[in-house]
Amino acid sequence: MALALGKKVFIVMLTILGSWASQATSHTLQVAASMAERHKEWMAQYDRKYSDDAEKESRFKIFKENAEFVEKVNNEGNHTYKLSLNAFADLTTEEFIASRTGYKITNQSRSTNVSTSFRYENLSEIPMTMDWREQGAVTPVKDQGQCGCCWAFSAVAAVEGITKIKTGNLISLSEQQLLDCDNNDKNGCHGGLMDNAFTYIIQNKGLTTETNYPYYAEERACDMQKASYYEAQISGFEDVPANDEEALLKAVAGQPVSVAIDGYGPAFQHYSSGVFSGECTTSLNHAVTVIGYGTTEDGTKYWLAKNSWGETWGEGGYIRIQRDVGAPEGLCGIAKQASYPVIA
Ligand SMILES: *[C@@H]1O[C@H](CO)[C@@H](O)[C@H](O)[C@H]1NC(C)=O
Ligand SMILES: *[C@@H]1O[C@H](CO)[C@@H](O)[C@H](O)[C@H]1NC(C)=O
Ligand SMILES: *[C@@H]1O[C@H](CO)[C@@H](O)[C@H](O)[C@H]1NC(C)=O
Ligand SMILES: *[C@@H]1O[C@H](CO)[C@@H](O)[C@H](O)[C@H]1NC(C)=O
Repeated sequence: MALALGKKVFIVMLTILGSWASQATSHTLQVAASMAERHKEWMAQYDRKYSDDAEKESRFKIFKENAEFVEKVNNEGNHTYKLSLNAFADLTTEEFIASRTGYKITNQSRSTNVSTSFRYENLSEIPMTMDWREQGAVTPVKDQGQCGCCWAFSAVAAVEGITKIKTGNLISLSEQQLLDCDNNDKNGCHGGLMDNAFTYIIQNKGLTTETNYPYYAEERACDMQKASYYEAQISGFEDVPANDEEALLKAVAGQPVSVAIDGYGPAFQHYSSGVFSGECTTSLNHAVTVIGYGTTEDGTKYWLAKNSWGETWGEGGYIRIQRDVGAPEGLCGIAKQASYPVIA
């Protein structure tokens, strides 16, 4: 009797376990199906196509991991920023780094021929907020594509800014010319430095327009004829005193400024909105252009930076990065190697 009862209980248990197991399986399948659905929707949104099922399968795995990371961070609820599944949602962090950044990693602090003067040193009237877009000094957000030449985009945005401030004309200028013709930066799509780009523009006596010398996201032979038809000229460049966010503030009050940062982290890759507060280190590997600064309603201070990853990344292609974090280098090293072109 005891045995029979035991057997019956065992069978009942098995039945219950079986139904749990099948419920669990169906739950897993549902989650998998909705993730596959999300991947499909994302592919349509970003017009992403894969060459075969194997590629789709491996990209889906990466997409899923990224989606889980994005959700985890957003659900933690203790961040001043949000992440999203943007155009880079099916890239691993390594792939992303390899193709989308490009500040030359070097211990040599910038170019050796840098003038030591800092024209904004004694600037006393510093506005509470600044957004150079409102002054018409910023061209639409561009996209470097799969070429590590953030340095060219950062330098060009700074030159576009000072050109508008000094001449009244906002002209979209050529990154491709820097990529092809700047022999100070032989690494082209594999990284470069803004100060070398400024040096080239000075040596070449100018930079031509985006329209005249359009962007191809790959290095080509320098088109000397196009390169000699220049629309913008600079007379020099200056470095912002390093590791000093107050000095950077003065410089940005004066004009858009090229900066190097750490853009390697997964949070940076998937940044969507809000004030970015990390994770990041102070090892420099990416370049952007700081075009303003401000303070949120809750008192969080930020830098406003223009990136070169298209308009779908971040806040319409821009990022707000936390300012005055109490470390000399600034968050993500933003105050380490800032510089700007000058027009005499
Ligand atoms: C946010 O919460 C997560 C998980 O609770 C924690 O690991 C992380 O350090 C927190 N971050 C901040 C900025 O407070
Ligand atoms: C840069 O400097 C750091 C610390 O001084 C050192 O550990 C690293 O190996 C250097 N890197 C290069 C590329 O020289
Ligand atoms: C740096 O200065 C030296 C001497 O003035 C000059 O020969 C060299 O071309 C300059 N380098 C750059 C990158 O401007
Ligand atoms: C700033 O003021 C100091 C003291 O008057 C002066 O020595 C320095 O040259 C000024 N700097 C600039 C860039 O004008």
